[in-house]
Amino acid sequence: MIKNKILDQDIMWGASTSAYQVEGAYNQDGKGMSVQDIRSVPEGTTDFKVAADHYNRFEEDIALFKELGLQSYRFSIAWTRILPDGVGEPNLAGIAFYHRLLDQLAAAGIAPIVTVFHFDLPAALSQNGGWSNRQTIVAFEQYCALLFREYGEKVKYWLTINEQNMMTLVGPKLYGGKKTMKEIYQENHHMFVAQARVTRMYHQGNFPGVIGPAPNIAQAYPASAEPEDQLAAQYFNAFRNWFYLDAAVYGLYNHQVMTILEKLDAVPEITEQDRVDMREGCCDYIALNYYNTMSVEANSDEVTAEDGDQQRGLGLKEFFKSVKNPFLETTEFGWEIDPLGFKTTLHEVASRYHLPIMVTENGLGAKDELTEDFRIHDPYRIDYLKRHIDMLQQARDEGVKVIAYCPWSAIDLVSTHEGMRKRYGLIYVHRDEFDLKDLNRYRKDSFYWYQRFIATGKL
Ligand code: BG6
Repeated sequence: MIKNKILDQDIMWGASTSAYQVEGAYNQDGKGMSVQDIRSVPEGTTDFKVAADHYNRFEEDIALFKELGLQSYRFSIAWTRILPDGVGEPNLAGIAFYHRLLDQLAAAGIAPIVTVFHFDLPAALSQNGGWSNRQTIVAFEQYCALLFREYGEKVKYWLTINEQNMMTLVGPKLYGGKKTMKEIYQENHHMFVAQARVTRMYHQGNFPGVIGPAPNIAQAYPASAEPEDQLAAQYFNAFRNWFYLDAAVYGLYNHQVMTILEKLDAVPEITEQDRVDMREGCCDYIALNYYNTMSVEANSDEVTAEDGDQQRGLGLKEFFKSVKNPFLETTEFGWEIDPLGFKTTLHEVASRYHLPIMVTENGLGAKDELTEDFRIHDPYRIDYLKRHIDMLQQARDEGVKVIAYCPWSAIDLVSTHEGMRKRYGLIYVHRDEFDLKDLNRYRKDSFYWYQRFIATGKL
């Protein structure tokens, strides 16, 4: 079977981006507005209008990816380039753009890994209630049907939703929403159903590829050996990680999370048909984004959450509260660095779900400096990647099946909430937060390091 063959393959060394963070051209060639185009960004950070201007420079970028030796490239399709209002008439220029991108990747010998939805819901759907409206499930199905029809022969690896867990856990907090927990978990449920229906549709269409989710997965440690902390870590892991994978892999609601949702008065309405859809739309593989582990302790006080983002500061009264791990160093943006936790996380996911794993994000955000002779010395990023790949290799040697490793990010792009100054790329983009300069591309030291690693297999 084609599917088994695809999932049996050896690891592909790749890199990642997402449409709204890299493409720019926010209103070019008929593209509609997404929630990212119209949201207010934190003061002092850029918006996403130009980003890395990849839309207009993708040929040059793919030539660089080829020189780098990438075997796979994980990117996302902007829903609003394909369907400007989320539904209705397709935008032919947008469809043609991704054909050109895919053809260029094929010519470069790079396998595309395509995320269908990466944080950029069409604004028109959002104005009609977004994921709280069941019509968005239908819109998502129609959008995906169009993508499978158009690109089904060119794409072997599909990813449904990027970091649904982060959209649910931190999205409303980061973007100043005033939703109740009940509303948030109803939206989350609709995303589960949408993902399952699209997965089932893909399977029924007998396309020559595989499909899976792409949550942000990170093992949480108990802060101490106190039994209360152990239980807190278990609840936290269920709430942040397993809830999303249990739904994608088995089509089931995690029982510990149901307990939490009952306490929060946030149990969503689930129809009988939703349950059937979820059971019938189970994924072929698991893609995951890993940045760092978290540590939690029991939470009996009033603190519900610190000032957090996707990698720190989550708390839920009566269940858990994240704390700093004194054994770990942090990046200059305050994220802990835990390569061994990567191995732990991979083992945990492999033993829980027994499916091949694809790493779709892993990397270090930093304030890179461009020297006068146009070089970027980023030993901190090389060190991060080296230590994580080392752990990945150890996990593989010990039996974890990993089909791709795609660090974040192939090229500099705009961070989700820290603008352009938090860079992740192997390739530098010459622009600042607000000064667009010439947007030229420069190879960072990490580019040469990863290039050598891919060519020789040596760390
Ligand atoms: C993941 C997202 O949460 O982390 C990416 O899928 C994001 O879109 C990445 O850019 C790094 O986070 P940040 O906030 O530093 O950009």
